[in-house]
Amino acid sequence: MLSHDTRTINADRSDIEALDEIWLFGYGSLIYKVDFPYAESATAHITGWQRRFWQGSHDHRGTPEQPGRVLTLIEVPNARCFGIAYRVTLDVFDHLDHREKNGYLRSIQTLYFGNGEFKQGVVYIGKPDNPAFLGEAPIEAIAQQISKSVGPSGPNTEYVHRLADALRQQGEEDEHVFEIDRLLREMR
Ligand code: BEZ
Repeated sequence: MLSHDTRTINADRSDIEALDEIWLFGYGSLIYKVDFPYAESATAHITGWQRRFWQGSHDHRGTPEQPGRVLTLIEVPNARCFGIAYRVTLDVFDHLDHREKNGYLRSIQTLYFGNGEFKQGVVYIGKPDNPAFLGEAPIEAIAQQISKSVGPSGPNTEYVHRLADALRQQGEEDEHVFEIDRLLREMR
């Protein structure tokens, strides 16, 4: 069983060091909360993964007593997940490994860029074996939990609305995110 805090495992940078250029792929809060330096950014997607609010947040959008729900990626054959890729330097991962320490491990995936190019990139994923993983629940129950959760980074609802707004701005559809966004607006 993994500990919630993945910093020790993520401290091994040998996978990233082997890359010619370091591209970080954001599919959740990294789309709208960019608190790290980067040289360039581009829209991109990965395949075989789908966004789901199945990861518990005990440190950002909830508390250990009342965890919120944030995104992770679930393996789904042929799925497409849109995101933003950032070209970064290795030192950025000190900050990001701390920010995303609650069960997320880095994974190297192929990023497909809008211009047809593809490159290897770094993606944070909370796999189903991590202790903060909450897993599937009815969409209404997910929205209920999010509506009640607040953590040091603010209300859990803000995470959903900011992400949904950012996806809409990019002309991207995500049924799971948009449905939870809609249910939360109805609960106001
Ligand atoms: C992201 O926005 O890509 C992200 C989501 C969860 C953890 C770390 C990063």
